[in-house]
Amino acid sequence: YDAQVFQRFNYRFLTLFFKAFSKLFEEIMSAATAPINTFTITAPDDWHIHLRDGQALATTVPHAAANFRRAICMPNLVPPVKTAADAIAYRERILAQVPNDSISQQFEPLMTLYLTESLTAEDIEAAVDSGVVKAVKLYPAGATTNSADGVSHINHCTDVFAKMEALGLPLLVHGEVTHHHIDIFDREKRFIDEVMVNLIDKFPKLKIVFEHITTSDAADFVLSQGKNVAATITPQHLLFNRNHLLVGGIKPHFYCLPILKRQSHQKVLLDVATSGNPKFFIGTDSAPHATHTKENACGCAGCYSASIALPLYAQAFESVGKLDKLEGFTSIHGAKFYGLPINSDKVTLVREAWQVPEHYPYLDGKDLTPLMAGQTLDWKVMPFNLAV
Ligand code: DOR
Ligand code: ZN
Repeated sequence: YDAQVFQRFNYRFLTLFFKAFSKLFEEIMSAATAPINTFTITAPDDWHIHLRDGQALATTVPHAAANFRRAICMPNLVPPVKTAADAIAYRERILAQVPNDSISQQFEPLMTLYLTESLTAEDIEAAVDSGVVKAVKLYPAGATTNSADGVSHINHCTDVFAKMEALGLPLLVHGEVTHHHIDIFDREKRFIDEVMVNLIDKFPKLKIVFEHITTSDAADFVLSQGKNVAATITPQHLLFNRNHLLVGGIKPHFYCLPILKRQSHQKVLLDVATSGNPKFFIGTDSAPHATHTKENACGCAGCYSASIALPLYAQAFESVGKLDKLEGFTSIHGAKFYGLPINSDKVTLVREAWQVPEHYPYLDGKDLTPLMAGQTLDWKVMPFNLAV
């Protein structure tokens, strides 16, 4: 009888032990495969943003300042930012709109000059001496919004490029040719063949950022160059392709320049952005246009993303299982390229579904529709109320 009791007890004990063990095993396995729900990265910068001027700054600056510690501010105002004095004055107008909270107060606008054919080598020296100008932007004349004062031929700017190369001032390039007969989907590739190759040939040490690249051709080109050639990539070019813009009705809020390309290009951009290669970094190209000017028979180019860019990049990186490469892209590679310190504070992203606002107030009684308006995103930047 005793032996029977002992055996039964033994059996019970073994079953319990086995159950407990398998539960523990299950927990360990699910922890290993469970999605990350919160993660903290070095605070990011935005190496390409359009803040506009005047009343627009009341909308754009708080979003930029809450989400980024520094931002390269594009100079395509009307009239453009052409001299160091213009840049200093524009910077003051931006700073006047920075909110009072401790996060926004860290915001540092980094200024750029608009390259016109009348810019001189002396202007470049003055710009570097000013301490506020961190780059010069090249718009091929007529390529995009407010680019009428741009460059018609790079040979008209050789003194300026030589001075920039000598002083290490980066040239930011909108890489599209503008000839009317070139198909809009081929303009980036043609720019590489017709302009970029010559530019680098003549100024092999010039620091160049190929801005908002959209094609595998541009990604391959940047990969084939030295350390002085890098590229920014927007969230929309990582997450979307031309089907999102054109299938099932034209979606004007996906319209930007360079235009979204086919899916095979999107895939390559996602590959290089998430590869950890320091040549590729964040540049949202957040570009506000009042809603009625985008939802229009002749709609403006530009996606407004400053308030949602980090969640969008997180979503893009997570879609290929590369969240671990996000921090380099958003917070390290750009600062290193520009020769600036890496931000010392951190930002936390939390997985929590939320709905992007339908619009923000903009200018005098108008609105601004952000990219993904009304859609649900997976990630929130903390503190959430500031960020959006
Ligand atoms: O879509 C764009 N919008 N691309 C640019 O290059 C300029 C920008 C703007 O300023 O609106
Ligand atoms: Zn831009």
